[in-house]
Amino acid sequence: MDWGMANRMSKIIKPKTGKTVMLAVDHGYFMGPTTGLENLKKTVDPLIPYADTLMLTRGALRNYVSPDVDIPIVLRVSGGTSILNKNLLHEGIVASIEEAIRLNVAGVAFSILVGSEMERDTILAFTEMIDEAQLYGIPVVAVTAVGKEMVRDARYMSLASRIAAELGAQIVKTYYVDGFEQVVRTCPVPIVIAGGKKLPELDALKMAHAAIKAGAVGVDMGRNIFQSGDPVAMIKAVRAVVHEGASPKDAFAQFPKGKKRR
Ligand code: R5P
Repeated sequence: MDWGMANRMSKIIKPKTGKTVMLAVDHGYFMGPTTGLENLKKTVDPLIPYADTLMLTRGALRNYVSPDVDIPIVLRVSGGTSILNKNLLHEGIVASIEEAIRLNVAGVAFSILVGSEMERDTILAFTEMIDEAQLYGIPVVAVTAVGKEMVRDARYMSLASRIAAELGAQIVKTYYVDGFEQVVRTCPVPIVIAGGKKLPELDALKMAHAAIKAGAVGVDMGRNIFQSGDPVAMIKAVRAVVHEGASPKDAFAQFPKGKKRR
């Protein structure tokens, strides 16, 4: 791995623990003003001290994040369809590598839809981005989005994750499923899990804990943090699980008394 790539990777996956808590707030690129992110700045500013990276779009970065912020950025560079489109996540490149460099990012993120009828389009655009990012030593996070018709199981997640890694991704983001050890074992690059829809806090912490135990290097979590009754307490709890190996119960016990728990 060349120096620039290795340096950027170390900004995403923290060398001290070999783990990462990526805060995903890129939902607006296909969901618009998602609950909790209507005013992204208000939600995200208090979370930044506890996040290892911030994953978002260039528009969110420019409009809601101060340029003097001290946090590595993972830029969402795929898009093209919204939740109003029946072919959700039929994505291509929506931000160039030059733009990523201009924004001084640590990495870029791109969704592929393995197994759906749109897989070829998404995979070809993904590999175009891989080629460009490789030129400048920028890691690519492959987001293995799940098509509506796909079964969310370890077999599918292994297949999608391995394909993403074989095509050149430096990090794979996928969903936690039973048998996650198989997904990690068959993928040669680090894996992080997305949080998915909002769960009760303890359940989300249990999921993060199970993923780490199975070999994931961390989370790239959004709604389960910023839609929590107490987002700061939640990101601190997620950090305890990911970086300190805390049990979900112990991490959850740190929630301030009287704060809303869901
Ligand atoms: C989806 O592709 C987006 O990249 C989200 O950032 C991702 O799903 C993680 O967010 P959440 O934890 O809310 O699922």
